[in-house]
Amino acid sequence: MTDTKKLPAHLAIILDGNGRWAKRRNLPRLMGHRAGLRKLEDMVRLVKREGIRYFSVYAFSTENWNRPAMEVAGLMSLFRYYIRKKVDELKKENVRIRFCGRKDRLPEDLLEQMKWAEDYTADQTALDFILCINYGGRAEIIDAVNKLIASKPEGPVTEEDLRKNFYLPDVPDPDLIIRTSGELRLSNFWLWESAYSEYYFTKIHWPDFDEAELKKALEDYASRDRRYGGLKNK
Ligand code: IPE
Ligand code: IPE
Ligand code: MG
Repeated sequence: MTDTKKLPAHLAIILDGNGRWAKRRNLPRLMGHRAGLRKLEDMVRLVKREGIRYFSVYAFSTENWNRPAMEVAGLMSLFRYYIRKKVDELKKENVRIRFCGRKDRLPEDLLEQMKWAEDYTADQTALDFILCINYGGRAEIIDAVNKLIASKPEGPVTEEDLRKNFYLPDVPDPDLIIRTSGELRLSNFWLWESAYSEYYFTKIHWPDFDEAELKKALEDYASRDRRYGGLKNK
């Protein structure tokens, strides 16, 4: 276990590089996504063992609808398969599964399954595992603004008012955001919530990310000094 004083309460990962992982092996892109989901199963266990309380992963963005219909359909099937097969295991491990993102455009049966999985694991307390599917940071902010307007707030709106209208208002901001596969960008993940997040980038493609890599990222995080605009902690 890494030093718990310096452990992120909320670890977020942008799961990138499934396609490149597959291409390197002359496999179809969907095989990369399948390998990526399998890797996620191990990672949930490892993250829980580290003592992290919230683990969110970016699995499908609001922009990923721009991909070929075959790839999108394949991803939706993989999500269905993953939820159906893994929820019992997650529950046994005391993991609560939650979904974060816009509910429009997702297939009706997948939405039902998501709702079922959330209800089924609602009382689990060791780890909140948050799958961001059809998530976009801009969409989340716009949706929150529209909810606020509909509630007809009196007087000037505060940061807290907006936050209360986000998809998962009880989840703390991500302390550490990891992105695999070498891209140095956020791609519309946790836009508002990442204001003071620490970043860790690795060239490793997501399906090759492992325990050693996770430890490296957590150690790097533990060595950082988070100042939040103030002065260095003595
Ligand atoms: C991440 O892998 C998974 C999703 C965005 C759904 P990619 O599919 O983006 O993999 P690359 O970036 O093409 O290698
Ligand atoms: C970000 O990856 C979204 C997810 C991992 C779900 P992308 O592969 O979609 O991001 P870009 O297009 O390289 O910015
Ligand atoms: Mg990508």
